[in-house]
Parts: sequence; C-alpha cells; structure tokens
Amino acid sequence: MPPADVTSAAHAASPHGLRAVQRVALAGPAARQEIEDGLLAPQARISPKYFYDRRGSELFEAITRLPEYYLTRTERALMRAHGRAIAGAVGLGRVVIEPGAGSCDKARTLCRRLAATHFVGVDISADFLQGAVLRLRAALPALDARAVAGDITAGLQLPADIPPERRLVFYPGSSIGNFDPADALALLARMRALAGPGGGLLIGIDLPKDRAVLEAAYDDAAGVTAAFNRNVLAHVNRLIGSDFDPCRWQHRAFFNWAASRVEMHLEARGPQRVRWPGGGRDFASGECIHTENSYKHSLPAFEALLAKAGFCRCQSWTDARGWYAVLHARA
Ligand code: AVI
Repeated sequence: MPPADVTSAAHAASPHGLRAVQRVALAGPAARQEIEDGLLAPQARISPKYFYDRRGSELFEAITRLPEYYLTRTERALMRAHGRAIAGAVGLGRVVIEPGAGSCDKARTLCRRLAATHFVGVDISADFLQGAVLRLRAALPALDARAVAGDITAGLQLPADIPPERRLVFYPGSSIGNFDPADALALLARMRALAGPGGGLLIGIDLPKDRAVLEAAYDDAAGVTAAFNRNVLAHVNRLIGSDFDPCRWQHRAFFNWAASRVEMHLEARGPQRVRWPGGGRDFASGECIHTENSYKHSLPAFEALLAKAGFCRCQSWTDARGWYAVLHARA
C-alpha cells in the first residue's frame, strides 16, 4: 500500500489521524550528488542515513534483537528499572518528539509512563514510520500521534499545532553515536532549539567498553549486521542507478580505540568496476567503502557536549556493568 493510502486509512480509522505527514525524499539531485561525491572521494564513503530503506529498517530491527547487540536491551532494562525516577525528572504531560522514531516501540512505553499528550515521530523512512505511528495510535488512543517524514539534521518543520511548551526530545538507541563529534554537537543544539524554553532531552548513549564486546555487537554470528551493511549498496543502486553487486562486498567492523568509535566498512572481494549514469569507479581488491561510525562517548565527555549545546541540569542512569547510559538534560 503506498504511503498516501496509509495516511488516509489513518484519517478514517481515528479521530486525529496522521494529520501532518511531510514527505522528504532521500532520492533526488542532492542525494545523488552526495552519494556520488562520497563514492569518488579518495576514501570512498556512503552516509549511514542510506542504510534505512524499508529492508534496511527491517534489518536494523532484527539487529536490535541479536544476542550480541546489547544496546537496545540494556537501554530498555535501564528505562524499566529507573522509569519512575526518569518520569520524575522529565515531568508528566509532555509533548514527546522523537527524531529517528523507527518502530516507535520505545515511545509507546515512554508516552504511557509520562501520560504524554502528543507524540511526533520523525523518520526518513516514511513508509515504515507511518505504519509504526498507526500502531501507536491503536495502543494509546488518547495520544495525539503524528508522523513527520524528515531529517532533523536538515532542519525540521513541525506541524504548526504542536504545542511549543512542555516538549521532550527523545533520542534513544545511542543514535547520537552515529554522528562525528562536530555534527553531534550541531544536532544537540538543534534538539535544544526544538525542545524550546522549559523543554528537555532524554537521550541514550553507548559507553566505551571491552573491544571484544563492541566488535561482536557490530559483527554478529548470524550475519544480520553484514546483511544490513551490504543492503546499503542495493539502496544506492536504486537511488543513483549504479550496478553494485552487494555479494561482492565483505562486511568489516572494528573498534577504533583512538577515535573511540566502532567503524563499519564494505571491502571489495576482488577488483571491480562500478558504473552509474554519468560516472563510475574502479575498486581494487580489498579497497573499502566507509559506511558508518558508532562513537562510544564516556559519560563526562558527553555531559560536556550537552553543556556546549546549551543543556543544563543533567541527570544520568547507568546499568551495573557501566555499558550504557540514559541522560536527561534541560534546555
Ligand atoms: C542506529 N545506530 C545507533 C546503530 C549503532 O549501533 O550505531 C546502527 C548500527 N549499525 C550497526 N549495527 C547497528
């Protein structure tokens, strides 16, 4: 079913419906230019935002259930164990805004606990988000839930009738880790602006830890992360008309200790020529395309970043192993 039909079905099915669906395409000339520039750079790269077509979003959901990928389950356990203290810090009756909302599963628990009045899910994967917001509306009928297809890093226009007060920007899952430090700072500053005066931020971060634990989390035994990484090539093929053969690329993931980040790459299995309309590149055997960084911030370093972005009065909750933290900060 195309997205427009999902939207009108929502209107029919509920009093609020998905009133504001703003469409943002990852396709188009700007995306094409960005992808081609990345592929032609001396160290070829593809932005991790291109992971999340429909298949990529499904694979990411599968990653979150893997035994090696401790992040999601550790964060969920933290939110459950400290739910009351977190709600006390955040306050009830909030307008919850979640950039990169995906399946909206985490939002459901949070909105219920906070007795949230509104929820705005934002995601670049429009189809996936719309389905998720529909399920959220079914689970919490009193919640005014909206889907906004968009990218917070590119500036975001919220529906005009979303209340400007009592906003809570919710950014779980350690997604902030996928931004280089300067971009993370810029994104946190945008979130601060989005939260507005009196608003707040609830955010999850993955902490530095043993290399073996980190590398297993990004190179699981079942090969789901490898499939997720390779799928970006299939998405790029559709976006720019290239002829990548994903099977000829090997998934690589390792912890870069000096930069405190897990890096993901795709390594050419043998020499290959990749073509797209108007261009192309030859890759030598073993040459890599850099597809993702996942930074592991220490708690003091991240609190300093929050302060730089204009947040204050930070509170944090950490699991017993010290692997993961949830932080609340005021705008
Ligand atoms: C979305 N993000 C927080 C994930 C991470 O852990 O950096 C993306 C991911 N990449 C590989 N596995 C999961």
